[in-house]
Amino acid sequence: MSSWRPQRKHSPGGLDPQLSRTLLLLLLSTASTQEVAPNRAACVVSHAVNGTSVSCHPPAQIPRRFPADTVSLVVEFFNVTRLPDDTLRGLARLQELHLSSNQLESLSPNFLLPAPLLQVLDLTRNRLARLPRGLFQASGALHTLVLKQNQLEALEPSWLLGLKALRHLDLSENRLQTLPPGLLANVTSLRILDLSNNQLKTLPPDLLKGPLRLERLHLEGNRLQVLGEGLLAPQPDLRYLFLNDNKLAAVAAGALRGLRQLGFLDLSNNLLTGTPKGLWTSLGQPARDMKDGFDISGNPWICDGNLEDLYGWLVANKDKMFSRNATRCAGPEAWKGQTLLVAAESH
Ligand SMILES: *[C@@H]1O[C@H](CO)[C@@H](O)[C@H](O)[C@H]1NC(C)=O
Ligand SMILES: *[C@@H]1O[C@H](CO)[C@@H](O)[C@H](O)[C@H]1NC(C)=O
Ligand SMILES: *[C@@H]1O[C@H](CO)[C@@H](O)[C@H](O)[C@H]1NC(C)=O
Ligand SMILES: *[C@@H]1O[C@H](CO)[C@@H](O)[C@H](O)[C@H]1NC(C)=O
Repeated sequence: MSSWRPQRKHSPGGLDPQLSRTLLLLLLSTASTQEVAPNRAACVVSHAVNGTSVSCHPPAQIPRRFPADTVSLVVEFFNVTRLPDDTLRGLARLQELHLSSNQLESLSPNFLLPAPLLQVLDLTRNRLARLPRGLFQASGALHTLVLKQNQLEALEPSWLLGLKALRHLDLSENRLQTLPPGLLANVTSLRILDLSNNQLKTLPPDLLKGPLRLERLHLEGNRLQVLGEGLLAPQPDLRYLFLNDNKLAAVAAGALRGLRQLGFLDLSNNLLTGTPKGLWTSLGQPARDMKDGFDISGNPWICDGNLEDLYGWLVANKDKMFSRNATRCAGPEAWKGQTLLVAAESH
């Protein structure tokens, strides 16, 4: 691969020689126009003491080589399907690479080898369905990896080997249906994990046994049915937990027990009719916990004696409750349509 390849709309075999020549002339004339007006065709290059930043957006031409002291490289919105394998050759000081909004379908396993100091890799909005094994073998400095809005259907632990310093992993808006055991076993520095808006029905029970210091966990917008006992235990630093817009019908009594710092919980828009004894009391009081609030709206709560535990906690924590007016009883008949808070306060 020797050049950036744009997305191909037609098969290349179909061009007649005349048309090819016309296109060539057209390209040449475009190129010369760009020489006349270089500002419109060139990437923005800025030099600072810590290195050079290069930012390319259409209609700029993507240059074949970048300055050797490039610390930040942005190549976005070009719709390229492949990068030349040696794109980063000589860029040993690169710290940030932003490739969002292209049509990248694959990456070479050696792609990142020349840039061992890379800290941020943003691949948002591409067409990646898989990553090569060992892509991150030399990426021990990478702390932020964004794969949002790609076409990942499955992941393999071997794809993530080497991400010793990773703190933020964004896998949202892909097509993930399951995750393999051991996926994050060695990704122990993780603080933010975003798996939102995929198609996950279950999670492997060991998913979070590698990263034990999560601060933010996004699981919203999946198809999760059960939150089990072990998944979140222990996550003593977890502050933000997003479980909304799933199909949760059951949450284990001890599911939230280890979350001593939890400040925000979103369980809205699930299928919860009740919750087991002990779940809420394990979360503590608002003076210390839940300082950013909680949302349990959009569930078909059955407001009978089975909610006693929740009622007590709700009344004590109502200042922190979001969407009170949308948190209503679906039954029994006597309470149907009433807000959960009113039900709680009259029990
Ligand atoms: C380089 O330094 C500038 C200002 O000194 C800073 O804003 C920028 O984030 C730095 N870039 C990198 C990649 O460290
Ligand atoms: C990339 O594709 C989008 C959507 O098809 C289109 O709107 C945009 O103009 C394309 N950009 C380039 C540089 O070809
Ligand atoms: C984790 O790291 C250990 C030691 O480097 C290695 O043996 C193991 O295969 C890795 N496991 C996964 C799932 O990455
Ligand atoms: C509460 O929700 C009902 C519909 O469920 C709506 O008619 C009403 O206006 C809402 N009240 C407030 C104060 O938002």
